[in-house]
Amino acid sequence: MDPKFEAVSKTTVPLILERKLRGEKVTCLTAYDYPTARLVDEAGIDMILVGDSLAQVVLGYDSTLPVTVDEMLHHLRAVRRATRRALLIADLPFGSYHLGEDQALETSIRFVKEGGAEAVKIEGGKKRAPVIRRLVQAEIPVMAHIGLTPQSVNAFGGYRVQGKTLESAGELLADAQAVEEAGAFSVVLEGIPRELAAVITSRLSIPTIGIGAGPECDGQVLVIHDLVGLSFSPPPKFVRAYADLRETMRSAIEQFRDDVLASRYPDDRESYHWPASLREHFEREAARR
Ligand code: KIV
Repeated sequence: MDPKFEAVSKTTVPLILERKLRGEKVTCLTAYDYPTARLVDEAGIDMILVGDSLAQVVLGYDSTLPVTVDEMLHHLRAVRRATRRALLIADLPFGSYHLGEDQALETSIRFVKEGGAEAVKIEGGKKRAPVIRRLVQAEIPVMAHIGLTPQSVNAFGGYRVQGKTLESAGELLADAQAVEEAGAFSVVLEGIPRELAAVITSRLSIPTIGIGAGPECDGQVLVIHDLVGLSFSPPPKFVRAYADLRETMRSAIEQFRDDVLASRYPDDRESYHWPASLREHFEREAARR
């Protein structure tokens, strides 16, 4: 059967919510292009996030702040073409929702209509509750994101673990409860102490998806480039690199360079040939001269 028409068990928002009730873990990875998204989808990862980390890991910016809605859409569409099973989530980039609910809705509708997203992710807790409510009313599922939210890097004064004092831990718990109450179907907990993530996870009925938030979260998300060892900056403490693609790629590129310079690439098997009749014709011509 054409693999395009094979039945797939599609991951949906209600299925993600059910996983929490059943005590089953949820997996999520970022992807920004067709081949990576295919591999992630075919591996059975539950959710694919086209994260604004695109800015750093693919586009080479030094924070997530510069990436635009149009750049996000360009990558979202490529990931959409590859994704059949996973729930596809698009990250709202900095500046695409800060002007208020209307702007957030407009950006999210573009991601759904033009990019094929099935949900959006938005950074921020209590203060995003009205926006989350509005998106959910418009039938757009929302993944919230609290803790070390990278779009707040300037406000935080750097990428610092959040929730390390009683006061900030209490605020993050209130943030988590506010986004659940506003209708988010899940919440990313980034860069917070494991103990706080465990408390939040036990108090919410929506799944918590951790990144640098310890093992008690209901699920885990990583940036794919960190997972496969294709990043150039030193990885944060919570990253486990399952491969070293940077060195694998570097070595392949250097071998290609050396083979071309030494005329070892391409060889005869890697070359196209004339049909015998044409070859014989030119051999006869050459012999006549
Ligand atoms: O942009 C991103 O990749 C993210 C995840 C790391 C949660 O926000």
